[in-house]
Amino acid sequence: MSRTRWKAASRAVIALTGAGALAAGMAMVLVTPASAGTTLGASAAEKGRYFGTAVASGRLSDSAYTTILNREFNMVTPENEMKIDATEPQQGQFSYSAAERIVNHARSQGMNVRGHTLAWHGQQPGWMQGMSGSALRQAMLNHITQVATHFRGQVVAWDVVNEAFADGNSGGRRDSNLQRTGDDWIEAAFRAARAADPGAKLCYNDYNTDNWTWAKTQGVYNMVRDFKSRGVPIDCVGFQSHFNNDSPYVSNYRTTLSSFAALGVDVQITELDIQGAPASTYRSVVEDCLAVPRCNGITVWGIRDSDSWRSEQTPLLFNSNGSKKAAYDSVLAALNAGGTTPPPTTPPPTTPPPTTPPPTTPPPTTPPPTTPPTTPPPSGACTSTVSVNQWPGGFVASVRVTAGSAAVNSWTVTITLPSGATVTNGWSANRSGDSGTTRWTSVDYNRQIGAGQTIEFGFQGTGTAGSLSASCAAG
Ligand code: XIL
Repeated sequence: MSRTRWKAASRAVIALTGAGALAAGMAMVLVTPASAGTTLGASAAEKGRYFGTAVASGRLSDSAYTTILNREFNMVTPENEMKIDATEPQQGQFSYSAAERIVNHARSQGMNVRGHTLAWHGQQPGWMQGMSGSALRQAMLNHITQVATHFRGQVVAWDVVNEAFADGNSGGRRDSNLQRTGDDWIEAAFRAARAADPGAKLCYNDYNTDNWTWAKTQGVYNMVRDFKSRGVPIDCVGFQSHFNNDSPYVSNYRTTLSSFAALGVDVQITELDIQGAPASTYRSVVEDCLAVPRCNGITVWGIRDSDSWRSEQTPLLFNSNGSKKAAYDSVLAALNAGGTTPPPTTPPPTTPPPTTPPPTTPPPTTPPPTTPPTTPPPSGACTSTVSVNQWPGGFVASVRVTAGSAAVNSWTVTITLPSGATVTNGWSANRSGDSGTTRWTSVDYNRQIGAGQTIEFGFQGTGTAGSLSASCAAG
Protein backbone atom coordinates (compact mmCIF):
# COMPACT_ATOMS: atom_id res chain seq x y z
CA MET A 1 0.00 0.00 0.00
CA SER A 2 1.37 3.41 -0.92
CA ARG A 3 2.06 6.01 1.74
CA THR A 4 -0.79 8.20 0.57
CA ARG A 5 -3.21 5.33 0.63
CA TRP A 6 -2.12 4.23 4.04
CA LYS A 7 -2.74 7.75 5.32
CA ALA A 8 -6.19 7.69 3.78
CA ALA A 9 -6.83 4.34 5.40
CA SER A 10 -5.64 5.60 8.79
CA ARG A 11 -7.90 8.61 8.54
CA ALA A 12 -10.82 6.34 7.78
CA VAL A 13 -10.07 4.27 10.89
CA ILE A 14 -9.75 7.33 13.08
CA ALA A 15 -12.98 8.73 11.69
CA LEU A 16 -14.73 5.55 12.73
CA THR A 17 -13.92 5.82 16.42
CA GLY A 18 -16.10 7.53 19.00
CA ALA A 19 -18.89 9.78 17.79
CA GLY A 20 -17.67 9.37 14.24
CA ALA A 21 -18.38 5.66 14.39
CA LEU A 22 -21.89 6.27 15.60
CA ALA A 23 -22.61 8.80 12.88
CA ALA A 24 -21.04 6.70 10.17
CA GLY A 25 -22.76 3.56 11.44
CA MET A 26 -26.11 5.25 11.42
CA ALA A 27 -25.62 6.54 7.93
CA MET A 28 -24.55 3.04 6.84
CA VAL A 29 -22.25 4.66 4.31
CA LEU A 30 -18.71 3.92 5.29
CA VAL A 31 -16.19 5.18 2.81
CA THR A 32 -13.62 2.48 2.34
CA PRO A 33 -10.05 3.22 1.42
CA ALA A 34 -8.70 2.48 -2.00
CA SER A 35 -7.54 -1.10 -2.41
CA ALA A 36 -5.39 -2.98 -4.83
CA GLY A 37 -7.05 -6.24 -5.74
CA THR A 38 -5.79 -7.76 -8.95
CA THR A 39 -8.88 -9.72 -9.97
CA LEU A 40 -12.54 -8.76 -10.22
CA GLY A 41 -13.60 -11.13 -7.47
CA ALA A 42 -10.85 -10.18 -5.03
CA SER A 43 -11.38 -6.46 -5.59
CA ALA A 44 -15.13 -6.73 -5.17
CA ALA A 45 -14.59 -8.81 -2.01
CA GLU A 46 -12.47 -6.02 -0.54
CA LYS A 47 -15.57 -3.86 -0.89
CA GLY A 48 -17.78 -6.52 0.74
CA ARG A 49 -19.26 -7.49 -2.59
CA TYR A 50 -19.03 -10.26 -5.18
CA PHE A 51 -18.21 -10.25 -8.87
CA GLY A 52 -19.88 -13.01 -10.84
CA THR A 53 -20.46 -14.36 -14.30
CA ALA A 54 -22.97 -16.51 -16.12
CA VAL A 55 -21.52 -19.96 -16.80
CA ALA A 56 -22.56 -22.45 -19.47
CA SER A 57 -21.98 -26.07 -18.44
CA GLY A 58 -20.85 -26.96 -21.97
CA ARG A 59 -17.89 -24.61 -21.68
CA LEU A 60 -16.46 -26.11 -18.49
CA SER A 61 -14.31 -28.41 -20.63
CA ASP A 62 -12.67 -25.38 -22.29
CA SER A 63 -9.56 -24.69 -20.23
CA ALA A 64 -9.13 -21.15 -21.58
CA TYR A 65 -12.63 -20.47 -20.26
CA THR A 66 -12.17 -22.09 -16.86
CA THR A 67 -8.80 -20.40 -16.38
CA ILE A 68 -10.46 -16.97 -16.54
CA LEU A 69 -13.50 -18.16 -14.60
CA ASN A 70 -11.43 -19.54 -11.73
CA ARG A 71 -9.09 -16.58 -11.60
CA GLU A 72 -11.52 -13.67 -11.82
CA PHE A 73 -14.93 -14.55 -10.38
CA ASN A 74 -16.39 -15.49 -7.01
CA MET A 75 -20.06 -15.88 -7.99
CA VAL A 76 -21.60 -18.00 -10.72
CA THR A 77 -25.04 -18.05 -12.34
CA PRO A 78 -25.90 -21.05 -14.52
CA GLU A 79 -26.80 -19.41 -17.84
CA ASN A 80 -29.54 -21.89 -18.82
CA GLU A 81 -29.11 -25.00 -16.67
CA MET A 82 -31.47 -24.08 -13.81
CA LYS A 83 -34.28 -22.84 -16.04
CA ILE A 84 -37.58 -24.67 -16.02
CA ASP A 85 -37.06 -26.47 -19.34
CA ALA A 86 -33.68 -27.75 -18.10
CA THR A 87 -34.69 -28.87 -14.62
CA GLU A 88 -38.17 -30.31 -15.32
CA PRO A 89 -38.19 -31.32 -18.99
CA GLN A 90 -41.15 -33.68 -18.42
CA GLN A 91 -43.70 -32.90 -15.77
CA GLY A 92 -42.63 -34.48 -12.50
CA GLN A 93 -39.27 -35.67 -13.91
CA PHE A 94 -36.43 -33.54 -12.69
CA SER A 95 -33.04 -33.30 -14.31
CA TYR A 96 -30.24 -31.63 -12.42
CA SER A 97 -27.02 -32.96 -13.90
CA ALA A 98 -26.02 -29.92 -16.01
CA ALA A 99 -26.82 -27.53 -13.16
CA GLU A 100 -24.91 -29.72 -10.73
CA ARG A 101 -21.82 -29.65 -12.94
CA ILE A 102 -21.79 -25.89 -12.58
CA VAL A 103 -22.60 -25.91 -8.86
CA ASN A 104 -19.87 -28.46 -8.18
CA HIS A 105 -17.32 -26.52 -10.19
CA ALA A 106 -18.22 -23.30 -8.41
CA ARG A 107 -18.07 -24.86 -4.97
CA SER A 108 -14.77 -26.59 -5.66
CA GLN A 109 -13.36 -23.15 -6.47
CA GLY A 110 -14.91 -21.47 -3.43
CA MET A 111 -17.41 -19.54 -5.51
CA ASN A 112 -21.03 -18.97 -4.60
CA VAL A 113 -23.99 -19.66 -6.87
CA ARG A 114 -27.00 -17.57 -7.84
CA GLY A 115 -29.93 -19.71 -8.94
CA HIS A 116 -31.71 -18.63 -12.11
CA THR A 117 -34.71 -19.00 -12.34
CA LEU A 118 -37.69 -20.71 -10.69
CA ALA A 119 -40.70 -19.08 -12.35
CA TRP A 120 -40.63 -17.39 -15.75
CA HIS A 121 -42.72 -17.16 -18.90
CA GLY A 122 -39.60 -17.94 -20.95
CA GLN A 123 -37.83 -21.24 -21.52
CA GLN A 124 -40.76 -23.23 -20.21
CA PRO A 125 -40.86 -26.90 -21.21
CA GLY A 126 -43.61 -27.78 -23.70
CA TRP A 127 -45.79 -29.41 -21.08
CA MET A 128 -45.89 -26.23 -19.04
CA GLN A 129 -46.47 -23.95 -22.03
CA GLY A 130 -49.70 -25.83 -22.66
CA MET A 131 -51.03 -25.42 -19.12
CA SER A 132 -53.26 -22.79 -17.56
CA GLY A 133 -55.33 -21.99 -14.50
CA SER A 134 -55.06 -23.84 -11.23
CA ALA A 135 -53.25 -26.81 -12.79
CA LEU A 136 -50.46 -24.48 -13.93
CA ARG A 137 -50.37 -22.71 -10.57
CA GLN A 138 -49.93 -26.06 -8.85
CA ALA A 139 -47.27 -27.13 -11.34
CA MET A 140 -45.36 -23.89 -10.80
CA LEU A 141 -45.46 -24.24 -7.02
CA ASN A 142 -44.35 -27.86 -7.21
CA HIS A 143 -41.49 -26.93 -9.53
CA ILE A 144 -40.28 -24.21 -7.16
CA THR A 145 -40.55 -26.50 -4.16
CA GLN A 146 -38.67 -29.36 -5.82
CA VAL A 147 -35.85 -27.33 -7.36
CA ALA A 148 -35.25 -25.01 -4.42
CA THR A 149 -35.29 -28.00 -2.06
CA HIS A 150 -32.83 -29.91 -4.25
CA PHE A 151 -30.32 -27.06 -4.21
CA ARG A 152 -30.95 -26.00 -0.62
CA GLY A 153 -27.74 -24.82 0.98
CA GLN A 154 -25.91 -24.59 -2.36
CA VAL A 155 -27.52 -21.49 -3.82
CA VAL A 156 -27.05 -18.19 -2.00
CA ALA A 157 -29.72 -16.31 -3.93
CA TRP A 158 -32.56 -17.34 -6.22
CA ASP A 159 -34.12 -15.35 -9.02
CA VAL A 160 -37.48 -16.64 -7.88
CA VAL A 161 -39.47 -14.81 -10.54
CA ASN A 162 -37.99 -13.47 -13.76
CA GLU A 163 -39.33 -10.81 -16.12
CA ALA A 164 -42.95 -10.58 -14.96
CA PHE A 165 -43.53 -6.96 -15.96
CA ALA A 166 -44.50 -5.56 -19.35
CA ASP A 167 -42.29 -3.31 -21.42
CA GLY A 168 -43.69 0.04 -22.49
CA ASN A 169 -45.78 2.54 -20.63
CA SER A 170 -48.33 0.42 -18.79
CA GLY A 171 -46.20 -0.25 -15.72
CA GLY A 172 -48.25 -3.42 -15.34
CA ARG A 173 -47.67 -7.12 -15.58
CA ARG A 174 -46.64 -8.92 -18.71
CA ASP A 175 -49.29 -11.22 -20.09
CA SER A 176 -48.29 -14.88 -19.75
CA ASN A 177 -49.80 -18.20 -18.79
CA LEU A 178 -48.42 -17.68 -15.27
CA GLN A 179 -49.89 -14.18 -15.03
CA ARG A 180 -53.28 -15.51 -16.13
CA THR A 181 -53.33 -17.82 -13.10
CA GLY A 182 -53.90 -14.68 -11.00
CA ASP A 183 -52.02 -11.59 -9.95
CA ASP A 184 -50.84 -13.29 -6.78
CA TRP A 185 -48.69 -15.79 -8.69
CA ILE A 186 -45.54 -13.85 -7.87
CA GLU A 187 -46.08 -13.75 -4.13
CA ALA A 188 -47.16 -17.38 -4.17
CA ALA A 189 -43.85 -18.19 -5.88
CA PHE A 190 -41.84 -16.30 -3.24
CA ARG A 191 -43.66 -18.01 -0.37
CA ALA A 192 -43.02 -21.45 -1.89
CA ALA A 193 -39.34 -20.63 -2.39
CA ARG A 194 -38.95 -19.42 1.21
CA ALA A 195 -40.56 -22.57 2.53
CA ALA A 196 -38.27 -24.76 0.41
CA ASP A 197 -35.00 -22.94 1.14
CA PRO A 198 -35.26 -20.56 4.08
CA GLY A 199 -31.53 -19.77 3.88
CA ALA A 200 -31.45 -18.40 0.33
CA LYS A 201 -31.97 -14.75 -0.56
CA LEU A 202 -35.04 -14.48 -2.74
CA CYS A 203 -34.90 -12.00 -5.63
CA TYR A 204 -37.21 -10.59 -8.24
CA ASN A 205 -35.24 -10.16 -11.50
CA ASP A 206 -36.05 -8.13 -14.61
CA TYR A 207 -34.69 -6.04 -17.52
CA ASN A 208 -35.54 -2.52 -18.66
CA THR A 209 -35.86 -1.59 -15.01
CA ASP A 210 -32.67 0.49 -14.89
CA ASN A 211 -34.11 3.86 -15.87
CA TRP A 212 -35.88 5.34 -12.87
CA THR A 213 -38.35 7.27 -15.05
CA TRP A 214 -39.55 4.22 -16.96
CA ALA A 215 -43.02 2.91 -16.16
CA LYS A 216 -41.71 -0.65 -15.91
CA THR A 217 -39.21 0.37 -13.23
CA GLN A 218 -41.98 2.05 -11.27
CA GLY A 219 -44.24 -0.96 -11.68
CA VAL A 220 -41.62 -3.28 -10.14
CA TYR A 221 -40.83 -0.71 -7.45
CA ASN A 222 -44.50 -0.55 -6.44
CA MET A 223 -44.71 -4.33 -6.31
CA VAL A 224 -41.64 -4.59 -4.06
CA ARG A 225 -42.96 -1.84 -1.80
CA ASP A 226 -46.27 -3.67 -1.57
CA PHE A 227 -44.51 -6.99 -0.85
CA LYS A 228 -42.43 -5.43 1.93
CA SER A 229 -45.49 -3.80 3.46
CA ARG A 230 -47.43 -7.08 3.48
CA GLY A 231 -44.59 -9.34 4.59
CA VAL A 232 -44.22 -11.26 1.33
CA PRO A 233 -40.75 -12.86 1.63
CA ILE A 234 -38.60 -10.90 -0.83
CA ASP A 235 -34.96 -10.09 -0.05
CA CYS A 236 -33.50 -8.65 -3.22
CA VAL A 237 -34.12 -7.19 -6.63
CA GLY A 238 -31.99 -8.17 -9.60
CA PHE A 239 -31.33 -5.71 -12.40
CA GLN A 240 -30.36 -7.60 -15.53
CA SER A 241 -28.84 -4.45 -17.04
CA HIS A 242 -28.43 -5.63 -20.60
CA PHE A 243 -27.48 -2.20 -21.89
CA ASN A 244 -27.64 -1.44 -25.59
CA ASN A 245 -28.79 1.30 -27.94
CA ASP A 246 -32.46 0.61 -27.24
CA SER A 247 -32.04 0.35 -23.49
CA PRO A 248 -28.97 2.42 -22.69
CA TYR A 249 -27.27 3.03 -19.37
CA VAL A 250 -28.66 6.24 -17.83
CA SER A 251 -27.25 8.45 -15.14
CA ASN A 252 -30.32 7.90 -12.94
CA TYR A 253 -29.33 4.21 -12.59
CA ARG A 254 -27.84 4.98 -9.17
CA THR A 255 -31.14 6.56 -8.12
CA THR A 256 -32.91 3.40 -9.23
CA LEU A 257 -30.57 1.16 -7.21
CA SER A 258 -30.72 3.34 -4.09
CA SER A 259 -34.48 3.79 -4.30
CA PHE A 260 -35.10 0.06 -4.39
CA ALA A 261 -32.56 -0.48 -1.61
CA ALA A 262 -34.43 2.07 0.49
CA LEU A 263 -37.43 -0.27 0.43
CA GLY A 264 -35.37 -2.67 2.56
CA VAL A 265 -34.11 -5.09 -0.09
CA ASP A 266 -30.65 -5.84 -1.43
CA VAL A 267 -30.02 -4.93 -5.04
CA GLN A 268 -27.84 -6.92 -7.40
CA ILE A 269 -26.75 -6.37 -10.97
CA THR A 270 -27.46 -9.80 -12.35
CA GLU A 271 -26.78 -10.02 -16.10
CA LEU A 272 -24.61 -7.08 -17.03
CA ASP A 273 -23.47 -6.63 -20.61
CA ILE A 274 -23.05 -3.39 -22.53
CA GLN A 275 -23.15 -3.09 -26.30
CA GLY A 276 -19.64 -2.29 -27.50
CA ALA A 277 -18.33 -2.56 -23.91
CA PRO A 278 -17.46 1.13 -23.48
CA ALA A 279 -14.98 1.36 -20.61
CA SER A 280 -16.57 4.53 -19.22
CA THR A 281 -20.05 2.98 -19.03
CA TYR A 282 -18.73 -0.12 -17.31
CA ARG A 283 -16.95 2.16 -14.84
CA SER A 284 -20.17 4.09 -14.15
CA VAL A 285 -22.10 0.90 -13.45
CA VAL A 286 -19.48 -0.25 -10.94
CA GLU A 287 -19.34 3.17 -9.29
CA ASP A 288 -23.13 3.21 -9.00
CA CYS A 289 -23.17 -0.18 -7.30
CA LEU A 290 -20.35 0.79 -4.94
CA ALA A 291 -22.22 3.99 -4.03
CA VAL A 292 -25.24 2.02 -2.80
CA PRO A 293 -24.51 0.10 0.40
CA ARG A 294 -27.12 -2.56 -0.35
CA CYS A 295 -25.84 -3.20 -3.87
CA ASN A 296 -24.03 -6.38 -2.97
CA GLY A 297 -22.71 -7.66 -6.25
CA ILE A 298 -22.36 -7.53 -9.99
CA THR A 299 -22.64 -10.44 -12.41
CA VAL A 300 -21.65 -10.14 -16.06
CA TRP A 301 -23.58 -12.31 -18.52
CA GLY A 302 -20.66 -14.35 -19.81
CA ILE A 303 -16.87 -14.25 -19.81
CA ARG A 304 -15.56 -13.67 -23.36
CA ASP A 305 -17.40 -11.93 -26.17
CA SER A 306 -17.62 -15.30 -27.89
CA ASP A 307 -19.49 -16.67 -24.84
CA SER A 308 -22.11 -13.91 -24.93
CA TRP A 309 -25.74 -14.46 -25.94
CA ARG A 310 -25.23 -11.22 -27.87
CA SER A 311 -21.70 -11.88 -29.12
CA GLU A 312 -22.18 -9.61 -32.18
CA GLN A 313 -22.41 -6.70 -29.72
CA THR A 314 -19.03 -7.61 -28.16
CA PRO A 315 -20.49 -6.55 -24.79
CA LEU A 316 -18.24 -8.32 -22.27
CA LEU A 317 -14.96 -7.78 -20.44
CA PHE A 318 -12.79 -10.31 -22.32
CA ASN A 319 -12.07 -10.65 -26.02
CA SER A 320 -12.95 -13.86 -27.79
CA ASN A 321 -9.30 -14.86 -27.42
CA GLY A 322 -9.54 -14.41 -23.65
CA SER A 323 -7.56 -11.22 -23.30
CA LYS A 324 -8.71 -8.38 -21.07
CA LYS A 325 -10.47 -5.48 -22.79
CA ALA A 326 -10.31 -1.81 -21.80
CA ALA A 327 -13.65 -2.34 -20.06
CA TYR A 328 -11.99 -4.92 -17.80
CA ASP A 329 -9.33 -2.44 -16.72
CA SER A 330 -11.91 0.23 -15.95
CA VAL A 331 -14.05 -2.17 -13.92
CA LEU A 332 -11.05 -3.32 -11.89
CA ALA A 333 -9.90 0.26 -11.34
CA ALA A 334 -13.39 1.35 -10.26
CA LEU A 335 -13.64 -1.59 -7.84
CA ASN A 336 -10.29 -0.68 -6.33
CA ALA A 337 -10.98 3.05 -6.19
CA GLY A 338 -13.45 3.18 -3.35
CA GLY A 339 -17.15 3.21 -2.66
CA THR A 340 -19.06 2.31 0.42
CA THR A 341 -19.10 -0.77 2.55
CA PRO A 342 -22.38 -2.62 2.71
CA PRO A 343 -24.22 -2.86 6.02
CA PRO A 344 -23.08 -5.84 8.07
CA THR A 345 -24.99 -9.04 7.40
CA THR A 346 -24.68 -10.08 11.05
CA PRO A 347 -25.09 -7.55 13.85
CA PRO A 348 -21.83 -6.30 15.34
CA PRO A 349 -21.37 -7.46 18.95
CA THR A 350 -21.82 -4.18 20.78
CA THR A 351 -24.35 -2.01 19.02
CA PRO A 352 -27.13 -3.71 17.10
CA PRO A 353 -27.81 -2.35 13.62
CA PRO A 354 -31.04 -0.51 13.00
CA THR A 355 -33.86 -2.87 12.07
CA THR A 356 -34.34 -1.16 8.75
CA PRO A 357 -31.36 0.53 7.15
CA PRO A 358 -31.96 4.21 6.57
CA PRO A 359 -32.20 5.10 2.91
CA THR A 360 -29.21 6.73 1.28
CA THR A 361 -31.70 8.83 -0.66
CA PRO A 362 -35.26 9.29 0.56
CA PRO A 363 -37.67 6.92 -1.17
CA PRO A 364 -39.89 8.78 -3.59
CA THR A 365 -43.46 8.87 -2.41
CA THR A 366 -44.76 9.12 -5.95
CA PRO A 367 -43.03 8.06 -9.15
CA PRO A 368 -41.25 11.01 -10.73
CA PRO A 369 -43.48 12.54 -13.33
CA THR A 370 -41.99 12.47 -16.79
CA THR A 371 -43.77 15.73 -17.55
CA PRO A 372 -44.43 18.51 -15.01
CA PRO A 373 -47.88 18.16 -13.44
CA THR A 374 -50.54 20.25 -15.09
CA THR A 375 -54.27 20.49 -14.50
CA PRO A 376 -55.67 17.38 -16.14
CA PRO A 377 -57.95 17.93 -19.11
CA PRO A 378 -61.56 16.85 -18.77
CA SER A 379 -61.95 13.10 -18.91
CA GLY A 380 -63.27 11.47 -22.08
CA ALA A 381 -65.42 8.39 -22.36
CA CYS A 382 -64.23 4.77 -22.03
CA THR A 383 -65.35 1.36 -23.17
CA SER A 384 -64.48 -2.04 -21.73
CA THR A 385 -64.49 -5.66 -22.85
CA VAL A 386 -63.95 -8.89 -20.91
CA SER A 387 -62.58 -12.19 -22.05
CA VAL A 388 -62.91 -15.23 -19.83
CA ASN A 389 -60.68 -18.26 -19.61
CA GLN A 390 -62.87 -20.84 -17.87
CA TRP A 391 -61.86 -24.22 -16.49
CA PRO A 392 -63.94 -26.58 -14.36
CA GLY A 393 -64.56 -24.71 -11.11
CA GLY A 394 -62.62 -21.57 -11.86
CA PHE A 395 -61.79 -18.83 -14.30
CA VAL A 396 -59.55 -15.91 -15.12
CA ALA A 397 -61.11 -12.77 -16.60
CA SER A 398 -59.03 -10.27 -18.57
CA VAL A 399 -60.56 -6.84 -18.93
CA ARG A 400 -59.49 -4.25 -21.50
CA VAL A 401 -60.34 -0.61 -20.90
CA THR A 402 -60.06 1.69 -23.89
CA ALA A 403 -60.29 5.48 -23.95
CA GLY A 404 -62.39 7.14 -26.63
CA SER A 405 -61.24 10.05 -28.73
CA ALA A 406 -60.30 12.01 -25.58
CA ALA A 407 -57.93 10.90 -22.81
CA VAL A 408 -59.40 9.40 -19.63
CA ASN A 409 -58.24 10.63 -16.20
CA SER A 410 -59.63 7.75 -14.16
CA TRP A 411 -62.10 4.98 -14.71
CA THR A 412 -64.48 2.55 -13.03
CA VAL A 413 -65.60 -0.70 -14.61
CA THR A 414 -68.69 -2.53 -13.37
CA ILE A 415 -69.01 -6.26 -13.96
CA THR A 416 -71.89 -8.37 -12.69
CA LEU A 417 -71.06 -11.99 -11.97
CA PRO A 418 -73.62 -14.79 -12.16
CA SER A 419 -74.58 -16.43 -8.88
CA GLY A 420 -72.04 -18.99 -7.73
CA ALA A 421 -69.11 -17.08 -9.21
CA THR A 422 -66.78 -15.40 -6.70
CA VAL A 423 -63.65 -13.34 -7.21
CA THR A 424 -60.64 -14.67 -5.32
CA ASN A 425 -58.08 -12.10 -6.41
CA GLY A 426 -57.53 -9.38 -8.94
CA TRP A 427 -54.72 -7.27 -10.36
CA SER A 428 -54.08 -3.83 -11.73
CA ALA A 429 -57.35 -2.40 -10.34
CA ASN A 430 -58.98 -1.74 -6.97
CA ARG A 431 -62.00 -3.92 -6.36
CA SER A 432 -65.19 -3.51 -4.41
CA GLY A 433 -67.38 -6.57 -4.15
CA ASP A 434 -66.43 -10.16 -4.87
CA SER A 435 -69.75 -11.53 -6.12
CA GLY A 436 -72.82 -10.12 -7.82
CA THR A 437 -72.03 -6.59 -8.90
CA THR A 438 -68.29 -5.89 -8.68
CA ARG A 439 -66.65 -2.50 -9.25
CA TRP A 440 -63.09 -2.05 -10.45
CA THR A 441 -61.38 1.31 -10.26
CA SER A 442 -58.11 2.46 -11.71
CA VAL A 443 -54.84 2.39 -9.77
CA ASP A 444 -52.08 4.99 -9.88
CA TYR A 445 -50.20 3.59 -12.81
CA ASN A 446 -53.16 3.01 -15.14
CA ARG A 447 -55.50 5.80 -14.07
CA GLN A 448 -54.80 7.92 -17.10
CA ILE A 449 -55.39 6.37 -20.50
CA GLY A 450 -54.39 8.29 -23.61
CA ALA A 451 -56.95 8.89 -26.36
CA GLY A 452 -57.57 5.61 -28.15
CA GLN A 453 -55.20 3.71 -25.80
CA THR A 454 -55.95 0.54 -23.87
CA ILE A 455 -54.92 -0.81 -20.48
CA GLU A 456 -55.70 -4.19 -18.97
CA PHE A 457 -56.64 -5.49 -15.58
CA GLY A 458 -57.97 -8.84 -14.52
CA PHE A 459 -59.18 -11.15 -11.85
CA GLN A 460 -59.41 -14.79 -10.94
CA GLY A 461 -62.44 -16.49 -9.47
CA THR A 462 -64.13 -19.71 -8.53
CA GLY A 463 -67.34 -21.00 -10.09
CA THR A 464 -68.55 -20.36 -13.61
CA ALA A 465 -68.27 -16.88 -15.03
CA GLY A 466 -70.20 -17.42 -18.27
CA SER A 467 -69.86 -14.61 -20.74
CA LEU A 468 -69.32 -11.43 -18.77
CA SER A 469 -70.02 -7.91 -19.86
CA ALA A 470 -68.36 -4.82 -18.46
CA SER A 471 -69.48 -1.22 -18.48
CA CYS A 472 -66.96 1.57 -18.11
CA ALA A 473 -67.44 5.04 -16.61
CA ALA A 474 -64.72 7.64 -16.93
CA GLY A 475 -63.80 10.47 -14.55
C1 XIL B 1 -30.29 -16.19 -22.22
C2 XIL B 1 -29.08 -17.07 -22.39
O1 XIL B 1 -27.93 -16.29 -22.25
C3 XIL B 1 -29.11 -17.73 -23.75
O2 XIL B 1 -28.08 -18.70 -23.83
C4 XIL B 1 -30.45 -18.41 -23.98
O3 XIL B 1 -30.50 -18.88 -25.32
C5 XIL B 1 -31.59 -17.44 -23.77
O4 XIL B 1 -31.48 -16.89 -22.47
N1 XIL B 1 -32.67 -12.59 -19.50
C6 XIL B 1 -32.49 -13.68 -18.69
C7 XIL B 1 -31.54 -14.74 -19.11
O5 XIL B 1 -33.02 -13.72 -17.58
O6 XIL B 1 -31.95 -16.00 -18.67
C8 XIL B 1 -31.36 -14.78 -20.60
O7 XIL B 1 -30.32 -15.72 -20.89
C9 XIL B 1 -31.01 -13.40 -21.10
C10 XIL B 1 -32.12 -12.43 -20.80
